[in-house]
Amino acid sequence: MNATATIAGSTPAPHAQPPVGRRRRRWWLPALLVLVIGALLAWSLFSRTEPVTYSDPLEHFKYGSIGSEPVSGLPYWMWRALPLMFADKLPAGAAGPDAYRAFGLLYEPGQDLPIGVSRRKVMGIERVWLNCAVCHVGTVRAAAGAEPQLLIGAPSNNLRLFDFIQFLRAAAVDNRWQPDYALAKIKEAGGDLGLIERLVYRFLVVGQVRTALLRLNDQLAFLDRQLALGHDWGPGRVDTFNPYKKIQFNYDMTRIPDPELTGAADYPSIWMQRPRQGMNLHWDGNNASVEERNLSASLGAGVTPTTIDMGSLARLRDWLWELSAPVFPPEHIDSAKAAVGAPLYARYCAACHGARAADGSGYDYDRTRHPRLGEVEPLAAIGTDPGRWRAYTQAFAGDQNLLYAGYPLPGQACEQQLCSARFSHFKKTDGYANQPLDGIWARSPYLHNGAVPTLRALLEPADARPVTFYRGSDVFDWSAVGYVSEAAAPGAFLFDTRLPGNTNTGHEGVDYGTALSADEKSALVEYLKTF
Ligand code: HEC
Ligand code: HEC
Repeated sequence: MNATATIAGSTPAPHAQPPVGRRRRRWWLPALLVLVIGALLAWSLFSRTEPVTYSDPLEHFKYGSIGSEPVSGLPYWMWRALPLMFADKLPAGAAGPDAYRAFGLLYEPGQDLPIGVSRRKVMGIERVWLNCAVCHVGTVRAAAGAEPQLLIGAPSNNLRLFDFIQFLRAAAVDNRWQPDYALAKIKEAGGDLGLIERLVYRFLVVGQVRTALLRLNDQLAFLDRQLALGHDWGPGRVDTFNPYKKIQFNYDMTRIPDPELTGAADYPSIWMQRPRQGMNLHWDGNNASVEERNLSASLGAGVTPTTIDMGSLARLRDWLWELSAPVFPPEHIDSAKAAVGAPLYARYCAACHGARAADGSGYDYDRTRHPRLGEVEPLAAIGTDPGRWRAYTQAFAGDQNLLYAGYPLPGQACEQQLCSARFSHFKKTDGYANQPLDGIWARSPYLHNGAVPTLRALLEPADARPVTFYRGSDVFDWSAVGYVSEAAAPGAFLFDTRLPGNTNTGHEGVDYGTALSADEKSALVEYLKTF
């Protein structure tokens, strides 16, 4: 106040010393300016998130970001170092920064991250996390020694998400989280960090990652209960909704009854989404909107309404709209035999599943010609395992429809329902959905819980289907149609249909083709190869 009064009261002569109070003010002004500019710079550096982008839609699907990294992601060098830090917690035989192979993640030549893992710079630190391709890409091999071929949009037959999560949980509760140890392992993994980055990792990142993994360990503690119930998901399956009961709604998982915890589901195929619009899909038919199935899938991969990359998701949606199913190798089809199977299919199966177009031009999804396609078959009628159906409860459907009710989604590429994060189509159904069988050869093992290894086995009554078989191989049985499952390949997973959630009952009786003669059944399988 005094200084102001002085200025107002006198006009100092040129070059005259200003009064003390006034000089101090002037000294602060540039300092403040520097601070403000510095803060702006830091803000622009740390608050910007920069995804790595791909112009090719397939590369985008495999490696592009959907926005899961900011909330769920691991800093790149922690991702690389974790398998070195906790090598003793990896499956037998796995080692090195790419040890994620042991969890069924697929590495292409020249790539440092597996298919289904994307990267994005968040607050100046490169982070990585999952995208759609981790669960929706399969591989197939003609014979044991052959090169695997990618099946884009097919269910993953390799991914062992259960083991991957258990690895992260075991790492979280380990006591080797000292920054020195982590930084040494980062170096061993090839991380040549600069001074600033080293400091950020030392004082921030290592501790934050551990805190996040401890939270994951707590949230997904119910996996230990599933293990005790004999319900390891194994390769190719995930418990679709139970994790979100905890992560999104903080249900008390200890109060969830056992039968609701044994409903792991096979990954489905996600090609040709356009004709699936309006069909009641997901295994139990709980949602008829393609948009919402995509959105819920991205939330499932760790995205939130504030981090979701709408532009990226819209690109994926457009691409999945028309993505075609892989074609069965024609040299393994006996056309004459397939022709015998065609009328059997038309008679028994087409009303529920749709059919191959009569003129051979792809799949016929028409729901006037195939009145039950995209409808739900009551559990009592279809008779397959009730676990997945039970896991999706009425209460959870209600909660899902309120999820993010107050959140509009970030504006970019905002179209149709994607403008709101709020779901409105989820419902509890009374059974499992009748879905199109396009590309069905590449979707083994069969039924929602993957309890039947081949198409040929699905045409047997339940008591004649394999009681146990191995999952996790990508070598193909071109005659029975399905991944080879009789012999234990290294690391194969023994699937036991006598365990809860794994039963192979249902989809049997005259209507489902299990009463046909052996010749008719093999003709029908031959015809299904052409889908
Ligand atoms: C963690 C593995 C996982 C990830 C990641 C994932 N999905 Fe899925 N997806 C599933 C499972 C499992 C189902 C079946 C759910 C059920 O009914 O139990 C499914 C179902 C779907 C369906 C419905 C298929 C049908 O016909 O019923 C679509 C569409 C889909 N996912 C698209 C996507 C997209 C797009 C992404 C990325 C934004 C994605 N998914 C990410 C596992 C995953
Ligand atoms: C009354 C309707 C209905 C009829 C008829 C029917 N199915 Fe199904 N089908 C279903 C339902 C519902 C499911 C899903 C059951 C589950 O996963 O629990 C299913 C599942 C399947 C699957 C497994 C799909 C997958 O991705 O794992 C195949 C293959 C299949 N059916 C083939 C056939 C064939 C071949 C016929 C004819 C011989 C046939 N179905 C007759 C309703 C039907």
